Amino acid sequence: MEQILVTGAAGFIGAEICSKLAGEGYRVIGLDNLNSLYDTRLKSYRLNLLQELPGFRFIKADITDEDALESIFSNNQLDAVINIAGVPGVRLSVENPWLFVSSNTVGTLNLLDCCRRHDVKKFLQASTSSVYGDNAPYPTPESADTTHPLQPYAVSKLASEQMCYAYHSLHGIDATVLRFFTVFGPCGRPDMAIFRFIKWIDEGQPVLVNGDGTQTRGFTYVEDIANGTLAALRHSFGYEIFNLGGHESISINDLITKIEKLVGKKASIRYQPMMKADMTANLADITKARAKLDWHPEVSLDEGLKRTVDWYMNERFWVSDIRIS
Ligand SMILES: NC(=O)c1ccc[n+]([C@@H]2O[C@H](COP(=O)([O-])OP(=O)(O)OC[C@H]3O[C@@H](n4cnc5c(N)ncnc54)[C@H](O)[C@@H]3O)[C@@H](O)[C@H]2O)c1
Repeated sequence: MEQILVTGAAGFIGAEICSKLAGEGYRVIGLDNLNSLYDTRLKSYRLNLLQELPGFRFIKADITDEDALESIFSNNQLDAVINIAGVPGVRLSVENPWLFVSSNTVGTLNLLDCCRRHDVKKFLQASTSSVYGDNAPYPTPESADTTHPLQPYAVSKLASEQMCYAYHSLHGIDATVLRFFTVFGPCGRPDMAIFRFIKWIDEGQPVLVNGDGTQTRGFTYVEDIANGTLAALRHSFGYEIFNLGGHESISINDLITKIEKLVGKKASIRYQPMMKADMTANLADITKARAKLDWHPEVSLDEGLKRTVDWYMNERFWVSDIRIS
């Protein structure tokens, strides 16, 4: 069976992808630097679950460390690389753009160059809807303008996408870019809205909302993202970009109402000024992924939110202790 290197394996999305791959019988090497940008207990929790799966093994390494990558590629026969490692977070990228260029852009380059040197022909790259900036049509197709990114995060991801194209064009690497749209699900990131809202509502703390809450998002359930990634792994396009996004758009205010019902408590909302780096809306046009990957999101927002709140309540004895960044 094929052996796949998945970077960012202890992260929210990477862990789900590793789990799906192992479930389908792939041999999976999960790589992660286990950084502490958020509470590492969430990463340990995900890794503990992965380490029970046959075919999965973990290597702690950083994709900015060229020597570490060289040793991994020299010692393992790889069939594909799925690069999910990266520093996410629109706002953090405003404070520390260098971190984003290093992990998201240089890290991707390091992996692509290892693929070139070690003849690994298949590369999948995680990117983001943030590349579309704030003037995109809704729903947004892959062909929309990406020349006006709003923050260094989007710039670092656009550069990684273009590096994939250059390595495809120069060295024949089969590269697919996957632009994820606001992913949610159990054991998600504590800096993202859904995790924060569940915790704050459950604890009766003020629910901080940037802007007036009318901004909308096309939330995508994490398992759907993993399914789309595996679909892309099974195809060869040369170079291609796909949106992977949910089909239901919801305002932040309506999202809070849904979470209130699931948690069974009322939110005390505190509106704050909108951040300049934030987009007012996102919603994917997934016509291309439907046609070429035979992919569409299967988990509804209501079902996904229920699973996420259920997970939180089950794990609340330790998760409620996680500091929200
Ligand atoms: N969650 C979303 O809504 C979303 C939306 C669009 C795109 N993305 C992209 O998907 C990817 C995964 O996001 P996530 O939400 O799972 O975030 P996450 O922070 O939970 O996962 C990223 C993982 O990568 C690891 N990592 C970071 N830099 C690394 C490095 N230099 N070397 C090795 N490992 C490193 C981190 O330790 C972490 O475990 C990111 O590239 C992100 O930009 C996420």
